[in-house]
Amino acid sequence: MREKKRVVIGVTGGIAVYKALDIISALRKQDVEIKVIMTESAKQFVTPLAFQSLSQNMVITDMFAEPKAWEIQHIALAQWADIMLIAPATANIVGKVANGIADDMLSTSIMATEAKVIFAPAMNTKMYENKIVQDNINKLKGYGYSFIEPASGRLACGDIGKGKLANVSDIVDRVLIELEEKEKDLLGKKVLITAGPTIAPIDPVRYITNKSTGKMGYAIAQEAKERGAEVTLVSGPTNLPKIADINFISVKTNGEMKEAVLRYYDFADIVIKSAAVADYKPKEYSNEKIKKGEGDLELTLARDSDILKILGERKKEQILVGFAAESNNVLNNAEKKLKNKNLDFIVANDITSNDTGFASEDNKVTILSKEGKVINLDKMSKKQVATNIFDMILGKR
Ligand SMILES: Cc1cc2nc3c(=O)[nH]c(=O)nc-3n(C[C@H](O)[C@H](O)[C@H](O)COP(=O)(O)O)c2cc1C
Repeated sequence: MREKKRVVIGVTGGIAVYKALDIISALRKQDVEIKVIMTESAKQFVTPLAFQSLSQNMVITDMFAEPKAWEIQHIALAQWADIMLIAPATANIVGKVANGIADDMLSTSIMATEAKVIFAPAMNTKMYENKIVQDNINKLKGYGYSFIEPASGRLACGDIGKGKLANVSDIVDRVLIELEEKEKDLLGKKVLITAGPTIAPIDPVRYITNKSTGKMGYAIAQEAKERGAEVTLVSGPTNLPKIADINFISVKTNGEMKEAVLRYYDFADIVIKSAAVADYKPKEYSNEKIKKGEGDLELTLARDSDILKILGERKKEQILVGFAAESNNVLNNAEKKLKNKNLDFIVANDITSNDTGFASEDNKVTILSKEGKVINLDKMSKKQVATNIFDMILGKR
C-alpha cells in the first residue's frame, strides 16, 4: 500500500491566504504530501513561490499553461488526491462549485475529483450570512461536500462576526482524521440511530422540549455510514444539515419516534438510541391556544412511552445501545439502566460539565458493556466518541 497520504490544497483569493501556508507546513510535518492549486485571485495575495517552497511540490495555477512542464492533464490532480482541502474558500469558489461552474484549474479539479472535498470558508460576515452563500453551502453539504465552519471574531476588514477562517490546528486535525482510512467494518449491517430531542405539545403553539441538539446522534450516523453500514436516522427537530446517502426520518413527538423506530427495529443489526426522548407529555392536549389568565396555570404531565425499554423487551438478535445523560451518580445510574432495559451497551455522560454533553462539539463519556467492561474515554469530539462506540460494539477495544 502507498505510504504517504496526498492532499491537494486549493487556495482562493481571500485575506486569509497566508494561513494556508501554516496548514501546509503542519500537514507536511505529519508526512502528508501536498500539491497546491492557486486561483488567479489568490496569487494577488501571496506568490506561488511561497507555496512551492513550503509544499516542496508543484503549484498549479493555469489550466492552459504551456509548456506543460509537469506533464499533467487538467484532471490529474483530481485523481491524485486522497483529499482536497479548499482553504481559505471564498464565497466565489463555493458559489461556482455549487452551480457546476468549472472555469479554472481549481474549480475543474473539484468537479472532477472522487476524493473527499473539504471547504474551509473565510469571508466577511455579511458575505457569509448572505442567503445565497448559505444556500450554496447547504446545497454542497447535501451533495456530500464537507465544511469546516468559520470562527467568529474580529475580521481583517474590522467587522466583528462569523467568517474568520477556522483555527489552523482544527483544520489540520480534521484533514488528518479524514485521511485515516476507514475500514468498512460495518458493511452489510443495518444500523438504526435516533437523535435529537422530541417535543411534547401543550396546545397548537406551545410545547415542552429539552436541550438536545442531535449532534451526538448525527456523528454516530456519519461514522456508521463511513464504515459502510446501511443507516437509518430517526431524528427529532434539529438545526443540523442532513447527512447524504442515508435513510433520514424526521419526527417530532415521542409517539412519532416510537412508531418510526419500531417500524425498522426488526430489520436492524445495531440500534443506538441517542435521542433525548421526552419522558412526559401534557396529560391533556388543548386543540385551541390556551388563553392567558390572571393566575397561575397548572399543567399535569403524564408519563409517555419508554421507547428504549420497549426495544429491550422486544430484542432478538439486535445489539442495543442506550445513552444515559446523568447529573449525579453517573456510573451507578448507567449500570442500572443497562440491566433494567436489557441493553448490550450504555454510553454514560455527565451533563453537569459545561464544555461537554448537550449542544457542545465535544463529549466525555464512559461506555459500559453488559459483560461488565468499562471504558473511560477522555474528552473528545462527538465523532471520535462515535468511532469508539462502534469499536467497542465490534469488539475492537
Ligand atoms: C483585499 C481583498 C480581500 C478579500 N478577501 C476575501 C475573503 O476573505 N473572502 C472572500 O470570499 N472573498 C474575498 N475577496 C474577494 C475575492 O478575492 C473575489 O471574490 C475573487 O473573485 C475570488 O476569486 P477566487 O475564488 O477565484 O479566488 C477579497 C478581495 C480583496 C481585494
